[in-house]
Amino acid sequence: MSSVLLEPGREVAGWVNPLRDPADRRLPRVAGPSGLVIFGVTGDLSRKKLMPAVYDLANRGLLPPGFSLVGYGRRDWTHEQFALQAREAVTRHARTPFREGVWRELAAGIRFVRGDFDDDAAFQQLKATVDQLEEERGTGGNFAFYLSVPPKSFPDVAQQLKRHGLADAPIGSWRRAVIEKPFGHDLTSAQELNRIVHDVFPANEIFRIDHYLGKETVQNILALRFSNSMFEPIWNASHVDHVQITMAEDIGIGGRAGYYDGIGAARDVIQNHLLQLLALTAMEEPASFSPDALLAEKLKVLSAVNLPDDLGRDTVRAQYTHGWQGGEEVLGYLEEEGISPDSRTDTYAAIKLEIANRRWAGVPFYLRTGKRLGRRVTEIAVVFRRAPHLPFDSTATTELGQNALVIRIQPDEGVTMRIGSKVPGSAFEVRDVTMDFGYGGSFTESSPEAYERLILDVLLGDPPLFPRHQEVELSWRILDPIEKYWEEHGKPEQYVAGSWGPTAADEMLARDGRSWRRP
Ligand code: BG6
Repeated sequence: MSSVLLEPGREVAGWVNPLRDPADRRLPRVAGPSGLVIFGVTGDLSRKKLMPAVYDLANRGLLPPGFSLVGYGRRDWTHEQFALQAREAVTRHARTPFREGVWRELAAGIRFVRGDFDDDAAFQQLKATVDQLEEERGTGGNFAFYLSVPPKSFPDVAQQLKRHGLADAPIGSWRRAVIEKPFGHDLTSAQELNRIVHDVFPANEIFRIDHYLGKETVQNILALRFSNSMFEPIWNASHVDHVQITMAEDIGIGGRAGYYDGIGAARDVIQNHLLQLLALTAMEEPASFSPDALLAEKLKVLSAVNLPDDLGRDTVRAQYTHGWQGGEEVLGYLEEEGISPDSRTDTYAAIKLEIANRRWAGVPFYLRTGKRLGRRVTEIAVVFRRAPHLPFDSTATTELGQNALVIRIQPDEGVTMRIGSKVPGSAFEVRDVTMDFGYGGSFTESSPEAYERLILDVLLGDPPLFPRHQEVELSWRILDPIEKYWEEHGKPEQYVAGSWGPTAADEMLARDGRSWRRP
C-alpha cells in the first residue's frame, strides 16, 4: 500500500500532514488512521457498493495501512467467514482489478460482530472490537458508523451507539455517523430522525448519503456552469424554455419489495437525487465551494420551488405492467414477489415544478423517474427557446428543433449540445445535429464510483458532498403535498414494462406544447 498522506493541515489522531499545501486539491487525498463499521452488512447495498468501494479505495492506496472494517449483523459468522463474504462481494462488484496483496492487507483488519440492533451484549462486543482494533492496528480511535439499515432501525442503532459509549470520540479522534437515504418517509418523520441522530452525534460528524452527489458527472454540473463563460449568460428565463430531468431505470424492483412498496419512485429518488440535480442546475453561483456557501445557495433555490396549482394536471404517477425488456419477458409490479395485488405504490413519477425567482420565473422544470423504462439513463436537458426569427423558407426548418444542452449523468457520461446545422447539398435545409463531449474520449482517468468518493470523504471529514438536514427538510416540503394528493385521489396510471412511461405523462407535457425527450 502506498504511503499515507493526510488531509491538508488536518489533524488526525494528533498529527498533521506536513506535505500538503492546503490549497492544492490535486494531490490524492488519503485517509488517516481510521476504521469503518457497517450496520446492515448483509444487505444489497453493502455487498454491491460499500465493501467493493472500500476495496477500490485500498487498491488505489487511499486507505491507511491499519484500516479496519467491522461488519455488524445477525448471521452466525466468524471473522473469517465474514471476510470470505466480503472477498466474494469485492471480486464480483469492485471497479478496480482484484489484487491478492491488497486484499490480504485489507482482510487483516476485517472483523465481524454478531447481534441484533437491540442486543446490549453485542454492542459491548462491538465496543471491545473497536478498542482492540485501536490497539492492534492503530486506527487512532477514529471510526465511522455506516447505518445501511431501514429507517425504522435508525433509532435503535443510534441509541445503542450512545449507550455503549461508541459515539464518544476519545480525545484527539473522531466518531462519525453515516446515514443512508431515505431520511424518513415525510417531513415529520425526517425531523424525528434528525432529532434522534443529533442526540447522539454532533452536527459536523453526521454524514447523510445521497450517492448522486458522489458521481463525477453530478459534481461536473458546477464545473460546467461556473468554470465557463458561455453558459451562465443564457442560463435563465430569457433564454431557457424548460428543463427536463430524467432518471430512467430499466430494472424493476428486484428483491427490494420490502423496502420499495409503500415508498415508491417519488420518495425513493425524486425527494433526494432529482431535487439535488434540480438544485445544482438552478442555484446561483456560490461564494465559494465551502459546505456552508454551497448549502446557502441550495437552500435558496429549494425554498423558491413552487408546486403547480393543479396537482392532478401537472403530476403523474404510474405502475409498470407485464411486458418485454431487452428480449426478456418481465412481470408487472403487482405480480412481483412480496407486492400486494392492490398496492398503489408508484414505480413511475413525473412532476412539474417552477422556481419563483428572477432567474427562473416561468420556466418549468419537469422531473421524471421510473423503473422498467426503455433503458437506463439519467440526464438533465436544458432546452432553449427558439430563435426569435428564422430567416429561411419555412420548409427549410421543418426538421429544426430547439437548442438543448444535455448533461449526461449516466451511463454514457458527458455533455451534448444540440444545434441546428445546414444539411449538405444544394437546397437550404436545416436540421438538428449534436456536439459531444464524452468522458471516455476526453480523459484518461476513469471515474471513481460514487461510494468510493463518499466513503473517502467521510474518513477525511470532508462535508460538501453530503446533504444537510435543511435540504432534506425542504425536499420533503416539496414532495409531501404531492404524495398527499396522490393518496387522496385515485390510483396510479399504468405503463408497459420496457416503454417510456404512461401516456398521461406525455399528455401532461403536450398540454404545455412540449414533449419528453427520448434519451
Ligand atoms: C437508489 C434507489 O438511491 O438509486 C434505487 O433507492 C435506484 O431504487 C438507485 O435503483 C439507482 O442508482 P444509480 O446510481 O444506479 O442511478
